[in-house]
Amino acid sequence: METRYLLGEKQIPTHWYNIIPDMPGPLAPVIHPRTLRPVTPQDMLPLFPPALLEQEMSSERWIRIPDEVREVYRLWRPTPLHRARRLEEALRTPAHIYYKYEGVSPAGSHKPNTAVPQAFYNKAAGTVRIATETGAGQWGSSMAMACTMFGLKCTVYMVRVSYAQKPYRKSMMQLWGAEVIASPSDRTGSGRSILAKDARSPGSLGIAISEAVEDAATHDDTKYALGSVLNHVLLHQTVIGQEAKEQMKLAGEYPDVVIGCHGGGSNFAGLAFPFLADKAAGKDVRVVAVEPVPPGIHAGGLRYHGAAPLVSQLVHAKLVEARAAPQLACFEAAVQFARTEGIIPAPESAHAIRGAIDEALRAKEEGRERVVLFNLSGHGHMDMAAYDEYFAGRLEDFEYPSEKVRESLRNLPQVAL
Ligand SMILES: Cc1ncc(COP(=O)(O)O)c(C=O)c1O
Repeated sequence: METRYLLGEKQIPTHWYNIIPDMPGPLAPVIHPRTLRPVTPQDMLPLFPPALLEQEMSSERWIRIPDEVREVYRLWRPTPLHRARRLEEALRTPAHIYYKYEGVSPAGSHKPNTAVPQAFYNKAAGTVRIATETGAGQWGSSMAMACTMFGLKCTVYMVRVSYAQKPYRKSMMQLWGAEVIASPSDRTGSGRSILAKDARSPGSLGIAISEAVEDAATHDDTKYALGSVLNHVLLHQTVIGQEAKEQMKLAGEYPDVVIGCHGGGSNFAGLAFPFLADKAAGKDVRVVAVEPVPPGIHAGGLRYHGAAPLVSQLVHAKLVEARAAPQLACFEAAVQFARTEGIIPAPESAHAIRGAIDEALRAKEEGRERVVLFNLSGHGHMDMAAYDEYFAGRLEDFEYPSEKVRESLRNLPQVAL
């Protein structure tokens, strides 16, 4: 009765899987926020090196992973696949629950899978410095680590409220050599205009992104890096699903349902896209993305206000199911997981655990076996303040009013293509 399914270093994937040629229709264009016209490569060149822009639009199904990137991946890849036998027992479910554990990376999550190649391609293109943003700190610390490995400078605009609440994430980034700036800051025009209106602004991911993009666009030696949403970011994460497929073979099973938490979509896509390739080839597998409910009171991370276009299009095509999970149910699932499997999950990853437990409980109700695979995208060692809030009873659920959704949709710009 095995619990962990392990691969050797030689089995680190040699290529990333690009889902674009297997999408159910042409990709909708990305719209420039100022012109409301489709963006051109020229719009993006000040921000990203050419190799990453090529990957953003590539129609090649398999893209070779450079040796220098695989060399760094060897520090933690292949990551383990676990069978959650103790959780299964606690739930008394006939379901078999598997999870791919990405928290074994040096930064503690899946984010280095793309931070490393982004740093590599930037270095190759002559970039001197990377500017990026971070909310909870997982992405900023991954980028800081990747930059130090390729000899790049790194500036991280960290949402001010997290900067104050998560001093050790900041310390990690500084240890890896990054400069960490509380956002909004007086370094950029966008930061200064926010501070002029509210000198004590707590900041937001949107503001931090604006500052990092402005920094990159106004310095010739500097490029911008994003930790989710974009096609090339999702592409780099597909090492997760490719390894998981090999490991499920070792376990002698194939998942009935594949689950990931969804913020911008990168860890979800990383696990799910290689299985969606099987689905496109006729395999019967369900794929579920679990997202949070938007308002600021949601402590479980994941409050990203943009979903990856690739995942959005797959939801529209009904190839991916989307679910929202309230935060108390996610923390309850995280605690049950930690008390059975031992690992303390990142609050973001807890959304996937909630999804997996719900599937396992449904299997029990129906008296059917079901194989459930989910992505445990990171550990929660730096997120104990959120767990403290949960145990102190200070978190509450919130039903997002549908009138607010309609209002937001009314505010979207009209785009003529
Ligand atoms: C551990 C972990 N999981 C998931 C996410 C959500 O991002 P994504 O949807 O891009 O995987 C984050 C975001 O920073 C994270 O730190």
